[in-house]
Amino acid sequence: MTENNTTTGRYAGKKVVIVGGSSGFGLATARELIAGGARVLITGRTRATLDAARAELGERAVAVRGDASVTVDVEALADRVKAEFGTVDALYVSAGINGFAPFEATSEELFDKLLTINARGPYFTVQKLVPLLAEGAGIVLTTSVANVLGIPALSAYAASKAALRSMTRSLARELLPRGVRVNAVTPGPIDSGILEKDLPKEAAEQTKAGMAAENPMGRMGTPEEVAKAALFLAFDATYTTGAELPVDGGGSQI
Ligand SMILES: NC(=O)c1ccc[n+]([C@@H]2O[C@H](COP(=O)([O-])OP(=O)(O)OC[C@H]3O[C@@H](n4cnc5c(N)ncnc54)[C@H](OP(=O)(O)O)[C@@H]3O)[C@@H](O)[C@H]2O)c1
Repeated sequence: MTENNTTTGRYAGKKVVIVGGSSGFGLATARELIAGGARVLITGRTRATLDAARAELGERAVAVRGDASVTVDVEALADRVKAEFGTVDALYVSAGINGFAPFEATSEELFDKLLTINARGPYFTVQKLVPLLAEGAGIVLTTSVANVLGIPALSAYAASKAALRSMTRSLARELLPRGVRVNAVTPGPIDSGILEKDLPKEAAEQTKAGMAAENPMGRMGTPEEVAKAALFLAFDATYTTGAELPVDGGGSQI
């Protein structure tokens, strides 16, 4: 990281909040932003992962521990963002969890957990951080191709992401008068390590091989490919709002 990046880089002077930025797509996006001269505030629930990410990203990153689906944590986050940055140029909400269960075996607990973390959390996180967004800021939410496909064992997860897709449109409409755009990045099968969090190693490997075989491009995507799309929506897509951009090897389109 050179000092030069902070004045001449692609994201020089930008202040970005990444909710769920300690691993996966969020961390890949933070790396890209820091390399381009931005200052980044990342969040996550797990202290060790967060500390490791902060150490890797360096002094232009701030790490704040908190659960994006818990109101007091989100309020504390808003206070911290205000203290660190004042205003924010982009908000990327990547925080979310998987949850595999066949429809007939899906418990009320799993359903509520998925809807709470994947839909309610982003909704109120955006609500609490909106007052800090600069004119022209971009919000990027993270849906999934599961919101338009009938994938076995993902019914509650898919519903949570479909809710978020709907919120993307509604928030885009309501925040337009503030000069804020709201879009969603829509990943297909991306090899980020998220599957390994839920499944035993062997089952995760099998699932990944199946996903790659079924994909039109014959492979899974990378977190860096999602980061590029998220940054495009956050900064470059100035005539785009309420949309979602699939990053899925064509899996939901062809
Ligand atoms: N990987 C895929 O194939 C894929 C496909 C479609 C959609 N997605 C979606 O993309 C997003 C990112 O996935 P990823 O693959 O990058 O997974 P990941 O590596 O597990 O990253 C998720 C990040 O969000 C944080 N997080 C999770 N729940 C949180 C909460 N309640 N509050 C605050 N932080 C939270 C995680 O840290 P902690 O766990 O420590 O909190 C982590 O930093 C998720 O919303 C996921 O549903 C992923």
